[in-house]
Amino acid sequence: MKTKNLALALLIAFATQGCWYDNEEDMYPSQNNNSCVTDNMSFTSDIVPILTSNSCISCHNASMSSSGVNLDGYDNVKPWADNGRLYGSVNHDNGYFAMPQGLPKIDQCQIDKLKAWIDQGTTNN
Ligand code: HEC
Repeated sequence: MKTKNLALALLIAFATQGCWYDNEEDMYPSQNNNSCVTDNMSFTSDIVPILTSNSCISCHNASMSSSGVNLDGYDNVKPWADNGRLYGSVNHDNGYFAMPQGLPKIDQCQIDKLKAWIDQGTTNN
């Protein structure tokens, strides 16, 4: 009987929650899913929004460059991409300061996009 009730509850949950799958993605962002597009990364439309929405720019800009890191604008971001510290810090790799400081790790898809942009040659586009 118990199992039957559970099955019924799940059925109702499925039937009434239109955003079931969306919620699952929010809850498990590290899960590999096909919705993360990493082709042809653009600095302006892919990378800048990641740095802005995760407060990176708030702590790393011309007037407040925490630890000497300024992430405002391509010329300032590129050296940190090239020396591996941008990726190492957001991916919480050993030997790097975990970023964003004091905040949870950013979405895996955003980390993948940063990695893809670096692998694609840190294009200024
Ligand atoms: C609350 C302020 C704050 C935020 C938000 C923040 N940082 Fe930092 N960041 C720092 C400080 C402070 C340091 C110096 C490390 C330390 O002293 O702990 C640092 C260091 C770094 C470094 C150098 C890492 C190293 O190992 O040398 C990079 C790269 C970096 N941050 C990138 C980022 C990125 C990318 C984001 C957004 C995902 C981000 N930061 C968000 C404050 C911040």
